[in-house]
Amino acid sequence: MIESYYNAFEAYRAQHPFEGEPTALYTPANYIMELGGKRLRPILALMGYELFNPNYTEALPLAYAIEIFHNFSLVHDDIMDAAPLRRGQPTVHTKWNLNTAILSGDVMLIYAYDYLLKLNAPSRIAEIVRVFNRVAREVCEGQQMDMDFETRQDVGIPEYLRMIELKTSVLIAGALEMAGLAAGASEADVKHMYEFGRNVGIAFQLQDDILDAFGDAEAVGKQIGGDIVQNKKTYLILKALEIGSVSDRQKLESWMNTPTVDAAAKIAQVKSLLQQLDVQNLAQQRKQEFQDLAFEHLQALSVPPQNRAALEALAHGLLDRAF
Ligand code: IPE
Ligand code: IPE
Ligand code: MG
Ligand code: MG
Ligand code: MG
Repeated sequence: MIESYYNAFEAYRAQHPFEGEPTALYTPANYIMELGGKRLRPILALMGYELFNPNYTEALPLAYAIEIFHNFSLVHDDIMDAAPLRRGQPTVHTKWNLNTAILSGDVMLIYAYDYLLKLNAPSRIAEIVRVFNRVAREVCEGQQMDMDFETRQDVGIPEYLRMIELKTSVLIAGALEMAGLAAGASEADVKHMYEFGRNVGIAFQLQDDILDAFGDAEAVGKQIGGDIVQNKKTYLILKALEIGSVSDRQKLESWMNTPTVDAAAKIAQVKSLLQQLDVQNLAQQRKQEFQDLAFEHLQALSVPPQNRAALEALAHGLLDRAF
């Protein structure tokens, strides 16, 4: 069921590569786009459009704009997170260099707007661009919070949830909101689409945090333990600080306050503490709560139940994803 949206998106992408001179600017952009990935956001945009208009291929420029923006954010995120691997391959700044990753990322962001403007939605395009701008701004806000948290030891779970809402879930929510707007959905339905995506997106980032520590390296395609090395305040770490004993807390804080000399040892020790406290299980429960909220908004849409089947299947699959 999901394959047809994926294939439609991939065909459109293959027909619209980055072209032009200097090739040193555009080659890294094509590299990251061609590394693959789940294509979650464009698939959501196509499915979301189809809820209200069967001709979902009309939403391909929107889907592509969103996926280009997402990939731009990954290129810059990997710089900020000092990440060596993305989708099982070297990150852009390690394969080329820092300046290339900055500038190729920048040009991708600009192209995202070009594709957005190819969307045929004359009466709603200004509103869609405003949503895109709001989302883009919020992603930056979330990314800054994520970096600020690296050096803070007093981050609370509500603050963490707000941070992941901004850095990750607003783009997923915005993809559905913009798709609804483009397809001519009612204001109430657009709101439910956004809220569905917002809750799915928070669950999605909780799973991303779990996979960063406990995922399979090959499936995830990223350096396992990268968040631990960077002192990221993930749900796992924050829960461990909350429920651990004084001595657990001291051990964790000491790993986070001391410059890393042996990354492998730090990852192993911190993971063992997280395992002892079983925080992965608590993160799973929290994820489930957001997933349940998401489904409530999906049920509330004023579309025939069978139209929601594809979105339901996709959201279910995300809950226990291994990559
Ligand atoms: C990675 O997003 C960044 C996050 C917001 C967690 P995805 O997990 O969707 O990455 P790809 O596109 O499938 O590689
Ligand atoms: C990334 O969050 C969010 C954005 C790219 C905006 P992460 O830093 O957790 O994503 P991964 O784990 O590197 O994919
Ligand atoms: Mg990051
Ligand atoms: Mg990252
Ligand atoms: Mg992550």
